[in-house]
Amino acid sequence: MRLQGLFFATSLQTLGASTSVDQGAAKACRLLKESLPELVYFPGAAQYVNDTAHWAISSQQNATCSVEPQSADDVSTIVKIIGRSDVRAPFAVRSGGHAYNLGQSSTPGVQVSLTQFTNISYDAEKETVKIGMGLTWAQVYEYLEPLGVMVAGGRINPVGVGGLSLGGGYSWKTNQYGLTIDTIVAHELVLPTGEQVHVTNSSYPDLFFALRGGLNNFGVVTEITYEAHPQTLVYGGLTTYATDNEAIALLNSAASKFSLKSTDPKAQMIVNYASVNGEFIAQTLIFYDGPTPPAGVYDEFLAIPSVSTNVRTSTFREFMASSEGALSADAFGVAQHAIPITKYTVPVLEEMIAQVTAFGQRLTEQNNGSSILVVVQPEPFYQPFTHSHGGAYPHSSDRELTPACPFIVYSANASDPLDVQQARHDYFVSELRNFTHLIQAKAVEEGVSRWDDILYPNYALVDTPLELVYGGNVPRLRRMAAKYDPERLMTLTGGFRFLD
Ligand SMILES: Cc1cc2nc3c(=O)[nH]c(=O)nc-3n(C[C@H](O)[C@H](O)[C@H](O)COP(=O)(O)OP(=O)(O)OC[C@H]3O[C@@H](n4cnc5c(N)ncnc54)[C@H](O)[C@@H]3O)c2cc1C
Ligand SMILES: *[C@@H]1O[C@H](CO)[C@@H](O)[C@H](O)[C@H]1NC(C)=O
Ligand SMILES: *[C@@H]1O[C@H](CO)[C@@H](O)[C@H](O)[C@H]1NC(C)=O
Ligand SMILES: *[C@@H]1O[C@H](CO)[C@@H](O)[C@H](O)[C@H]1NC(C)=O
Ligand SMILES: *[C@@H]1O[C@H](CO)[C@@H](O)[C@H](O)[C@H]1NC(C)=O
Ligand SMILES: *[C@@H]1O[C@H](CO)[C@@H](O)[C@H](O)[C@H]1NC(C)=O
Ligand SMILES: *[C@@H]1O[C@H](CO)[C@@H](O)[C@H](O)[C@H]1NC(C)=O
Ligand SMILES: *[C@@H]1O[C@H](CO)[C@@H](O)[C@H](O)[C@H]1NC(C)=O
Repeated sequence: MRLQGLFFATSLQTLGASTSVDQGAAKACRLLKESLPELVYFPGAAQYVNDTAHWAISSQQNATCSVEPQSADDVSTIVKIIGRSDVRAPFAVRSGGHAYNLGQSSTPGVQVSLTQFTNISYDAEKETVKIGMGLTWAQVYEYLEPLGVMVAGGRINPVGVGGLSLGGGYSWKTNQYGLTIDTIVAHELVLPTGEQVHVTNSSYPDLFFALRGGLNNFGVVTEITYEAHPQTLVYGGLTTYATDNEAIALLNSAASKFSLKSTDPKAQMIVNYASVNGEFIAQTLIFYDGPTPPAGVYDEFLAIPSVSTNVRTSTFREFMASSEGALSADAFGVAQHAIPITKYTVPVLEEMIAQVTAFGQRLTEQNNGSSILVVVQPEPFYQPFTHSHGGAYPHSSDRELTPACPFIVYSANASDPLDVQQARHDYFVSELRNFTHLIQAKAVEEGVSRWDDILYPNYALVDTPLELVYGGNVPRLRRMAAKYDPERLMTLTGGFRFLD
């Protein structure tokens, strides 16, 4: 595994990670094949490989079968079969397969893949875009760029539209327009009962609230309508810095100043501190939503000695391509979590580097040369929650949090026995917990984080207590799940669950 590019885009992995065969699943697959003979696939089929593929093999399982619905009616048929009292098969819903946790969009049972929902259309009059949940953000941006508009979507190309849009969505447009969920106008939803509903703030205000962060708890979303915004040329790119003490001190100072002082909503960035097989590297990915940033916005960053950079004026899609890194096709696992931080002070950034270095070196030594990447990415935003109208993911402007992103990538072998793979993953998750804890402790000490601050659902480890992800919304979300899912269908899938 080569681990150079750290804002890595990569092809999906194709190997599986489970053999569990369930009676319900076998029955569901048989019934599905009878009802939707053209849309159901079994191991060995090329479609099955795509339907079960995940970005990280630690999130992947071998399903009993996969199904590719082509319409909301097909989805209704599927959920009704899966939920039959004599079936009740485990299942999972997959959009782009970038979930970080096993079971969120993978299953030993029925893999529902939304890959056929690829319709996309722009309504110039309403200035909205309706997007199918089988698309990636790269495909969305490819369609929109010639129209001169964009939506507030993902910051890395191959991520799926579905998970990002249902869990929150930190975007290159967030300072200007909010999270992706703050820019959604309507959802086409198939409820766990199979009923199809058009969800807006007026048609189903409670579901409209629940779907803004509630992920896969309220059924299967087939399409979403988003606000569109005009797109000009942009400025930005990826820079890798020198790692001598002087350069790093300049970087920390510039990044901290950006976090504490920048008030230009068009100016955004991600900082990347990483240990690649024990070697420290530092990068930034900067983005300005206009052809030229005003003087001062990035000048300090540009003055830091760098190893390489592709910062320039370009189209939005060209900018997106500039962050595509090299992660080779070999299998890897990922342990990923979130650190809620308001602002990034220099001592917090220094602590991040100290822990990245310490964990990176120790884990590399302990793993006999197999590839290890230890990363934390500060994500400074300027008032990201100003555009919030609430939602399941609490993101009130009373407490403007950013989700610093800590993760460990490790080489994995899909041919290893499952228990070996699981033990290796658990080991890295346990290391990640300590890594995360030490950094948050420093942020708490600095007054820029609290232990009860909300964790971003799309980053957090799936065993995070619900209250730390959904806060005071948990009782309401539990009541709603009970109302819309009387047969508790969604307890047959993984992820954060509002029903037991
Ligand atoms: C390389 C990379 C870059 C990332 N960049 C960003 C970023 O810039 N901003 C950000 O906010 N997050 C980012 N993330 C995190 C990302 O938001 C989550 O990983 C997200 O869940 C991925 O969505 P997906 O559709 O690809 O994943 P999937 O694994 O397909 O789905 C994730 C979850 O959503 C559920 N789901 C998906 N679609 C539907 C649907 N239509 N109906 C019901 N449930 C559904 C799935 O069941 C699953 O629980 C990034 C992740 C990676 C790996
Ligand atoms: C998953 O299926 C693939 C073939 O489709 C196979 O190579 C692999 O061994 C399976 N994994 C497990 C854990 O059963
Ligand atoms: C599987 O996915 C790849 C990559 O997206 C695509 O080129 C291929 O056509 C897909 N195969 C099938 C059978 O859908
Ligand atoms: C996509 O659009 C076509 C043409 O309007 C329509 O026939 C089809 O049903 C749509 N597909 C989905 C999955 O919505
Ligand atoms: C690394 O090698 C040592 C000595 O050969 C061995 O004891 C240890 O288990 C190995 N560690 C891993 C993680 O493979
Ligand atoms: C939905 O409507 C309510 C009441 O009219 C309003 O307070 C809220 O801001 C609206 N939410 C969104 C997302 O527009
Ligand atoms: C994965 O494991 C298999 C069987 O244990 C072994 O043959 C193969 O070489 C391993 N692959 C890698 C990339 O280590
Ligand atoms: C992780 O932290 C726990 C408690 O804070 C400690 O007991 C444990 O030894 C630490 N593990 C590692 C690998 O550092």
